[in-house]
Amino acid sequence: MNHPDRHRWRDAAVHAAAVAAEFIRQESRARDTITWQSKSPTDFVSHVDIGAEERIREILHAHIPGIRVVGEELGSDGDPESGLVAIVDPLDGTTNFLHGFPNYAVSICVALDGVPQAGVVHDIMRGGGEHRETVCTATAGDGAFANGARMRVSTITDPSRALIGTGFPFKDVTSADDYVRMMRRLMPLVSGLRRAGSAALDLSDVAHGRFDGFWELWLNAWDHAAGVLLVREAGGRVTDLEGRDARLIGGPIVASNGVLHEWFLDILRGGAS
Ligand code: IPD
Ligand code: CA
Ligand code: CA
Repeated sequence: MNHPDRHRWRDAAVHAAAVAAEFIRQESRARDTITWQSKSPTDFVSHVDIGAEERIREILHAHIPGIRVVGEELGSDGDPESGLVAIVDPLDGTTNFLHGFPNYAVSICVALDGVPQAGVVHDIMRGGGEHRETVCTATAGDGAFANGARMRVSTITDPSRALIGTGFPFKDVTSADDYVRMMRRLMPLVSGLRRAGSAALDLSDVAHGRFDGFWELWLNAWDHAAGVLLVREAGGRVTDLEGRDARLIGGPIVASNGVLHEWFLDILRGGAS
């Protein structure tokens, strides 16, 4: 299950993410001159997302011969749940990046036959202490780390103390009413709801114990793959709305510190409050 090469794969992913993060940081200095290309009427991308993915692919292919890449911007070389594959979001939080809102990341997961083996979420703008950035990593069975320090999910058991992240829609808003209903149910029960704009960072915030839960009704594999491994290795749980373990495919994602998970699923599904 846990492949002996997973630490080597993590090191390659960390290197690729660092190179992409540095490129993104450099480009952010000329943010006002970046051309926004439209993916849909309210969804934009720029040369920065594409340039970051090009750099990541080059490094991964050089360090992990034969690896396939499923990337958001440059396409999928096949099934993310089969063989050795890197699932890559070169810039998660593009809207934040384009606006200079400092919450965006590079996310890379290396998986073997559908099982995440190594993951990195490189938080480009939020550091702490002597760090200007935060590099969150995990390998299967070995725990999760932020700039080398062990990460653990929160120990909060009382929902009234919970801070919950979400990602209500901005492209396809067909699920907007579902989010409104879910938020109305949660609002009187928890300390707060947040929509910070990067699912990879939302999940790493669950792993850090900053968020006690997070949900989004649709995420692509590249948004959540690395973050899911971080949460699990930090002691939390990640499922779909039915409580089935999250997979490396698109779908709903519910993450929590584990203790709150059944309560959280129940509220999201409209059960007792
Ligand atoms: C998006 C962000 C956002 C989430 C969207 C994602 P992008 O990724 O993670 O928080 O709500 O579902 O598509 O487009 O910035 O890479
Ligand atoms: Ca994304
Ligand atoms: Ca992206």
